[in-house]
Amino acid sequence: MDKVNTILFYFTGTGNSLKAARELAQELGAAELRPIARLINRGGPILANADRIGIICPVYAWGLPLIVLQFIQQLSLDQSSYIFGLVTCGGFAAATLKQLDRLLRQKGLKLSAGFSLRFPGNYTPLYGAIPEKQQKELFSKAHLRLKQIAGIVREGRMARIESNFFLVNLLFSGLIYRQGISRFPAGDRDFWLNDKCSGCGICARVCPVNNIEIKEGRPSWQHHCQRCLACLHWCPEEAVECGKTTQGRRRYRHPEITLEDIIQQK
Ligand SMILES: Cc1cc2nc3c(=O)[nH]c(=O)nc-3n(C[C@H](O)[C@H](O)[C@H](O)COP(=O)(O)O)c2cc1C
Repeated sequence: MDKVNTILFYFTGTGNSLKAARELAQELGAAELRPIARLINRGGPILANADRIGIICPVYAWGLPLIVLQFIQQLSLDQSSYIFGLVTCGGFAAATLKQLDRLLRQKGLKLSAGFSLRFPGNYTPLYGAIPEKQQKELFSKAHLRLKQIAGIVREGRMARIESNFFLVNLLFSGLIYRQGISRFPAGDRDFWLNDKCSGCGICARVCPVNNIEIKEGRPSWQHHCQRCLACLHWCPEEAVECGKTTQGRRRYRHPEITLEDIIQQK
């Protein structure tokens, strides 16, 4: 296998992590983007040969998405690779990057740096999308930070694995994550359709893990959900709801990421 300079593995539901990966790739020059969902759907070991490896994904319940856990299990890398993590979140990441480092260490690998980056939050069961002006402010801050991160990565420098205080990590990444994440796959029973569903099937096309089947023109969730909320946010009719709180709440998609980009990640 030919060695490339930098490989950026990414997973995304609403585009923030893909946008971060793209900006970083642009800053770094010779960098290749590889979608985690496509690699997982193919099955088998995931091999990569590069000087620098990045793992870029959202924070879910103050930890890593389940698909990223599976990805790390299947990942096979040279132990000398410079590996960094970059997680996007709406608030804070707690010990998500420490979790990533711990999982890599179980395979004889480790993180050389771990960065967390704030983007607009997309967890509609708790809140609606923030106003566009605030979104733009977050995008410009993220843009500047990504330039700094690119500088660190380009030089292959060691940097702090960012995290919060011990007690915050214990509560959020320890207790809440452990309780919450295992409920995600079957938690898709929370999804339901309001009367705007046109049966277009976009929800099934954007689902990164093919968890949605269209039966008689209606989506049906198959209980191996990541809870990325792509189905809810990319529905052109805003017909997908989750639980009792999402009705009437503003949806969110990164403005520079297209429907096709999301479909293409698998
Ligand atoms: C299931 C789920 C859980 C989330 N949990 C957290 C969280 O614990 N902390 C946080 O700051 N943001 C959380 N978020 C918000 C996302 O991490 C954030 O919006 C991220 O940038 C989305 O990335 P994406 O656009 O690449 O999918 C959560 C979002 C989802 C869908």
